[in-house]
Amino acid sequence: MSRLRVGVLISGRGSNLHALLAACADDTYPAEIVSVISNRSEVLGLELAQSAGICSSVISHDTREGFAARAEAVLHEQRVQLVCLAGFMRVLDGAFVDTWRDRMINIHPSLLPAFPGLHPQRQALAAGVRFTGCTVHFVRPEVDAGPIIAQAVVPTRPGDDEASLSARILSAEHRLYPLALRLIAEGRVQVGAGKVQIDGWQAPKLAMLNPREPPRRSRTIGWSRDPNSL
Ligand code: GRF
Repeated sequence: MSRLRVGVLISGRGSNLHALLAACADDTYPAEIVSVISNRSEVLGLELAQSAGICSSVISHDTREGFAARAEAVLHEQRVQLVCLAGFMRVLDGAFVDTWRDRMINIHPSLLPAFPGLHPQRQALAAGVRFTGCTVHFVRPEVDAGPIIAQAVVPTRPGDDEASLSARILSAEHRLYPLALRLIAEGRVQVGAGKVQIDGWQAPKLAMLNPREPPRRSRTIGWSRDPNSL
């Protein structure tokens, strides 16, 4: 099986990179990470890449054009087919985004198009939403915009602060990003008219409510399970 060759751009901690590396460690997973590029040195994500034996590069983001030219050279050298942004905290050069159109994806910790930009978890708490989540999408020149591939819904809870909500969303990100990458690597994802079609995609059947409904009790034949346990 030939695996999709993936380059990952990071700026920091790299926990999503770690989740992707863990997925790729399975020989049956249809993608492999062949390049990690960071715009900052001495970040945890680079250590992860190095200990996984993956070619890693530090490219400073002095200018958008300069970063793009050097990143492009590395990605070309490593024969990268798809770029994953994983906590890459700079706005990319427009020509670079165009070059990688429909071949570059990002993960953002909100249910886009709600709460793009910085501090989406803080924005969600300020808006008082009962659900937020995370989104994997194809990258377009506008920040945190582009056809949506996959989303995970995460409830807000009483007493949440930015840190607790961010941690809950992050754990969903670590499931969602490998899933989205798998779908692309399997050739099941197509973009058309600004939307994504996924072959063989199954959506969940039920709505999730927040606040939860009280458990249903029934003495008659029929449903008696707590719907929240589904
Ligand atoms: C994640 O929340 C991601 O959604 C956002 O930046 C954060 C990066 O975290 N784009 P990490 O570096 O992957 O741990």
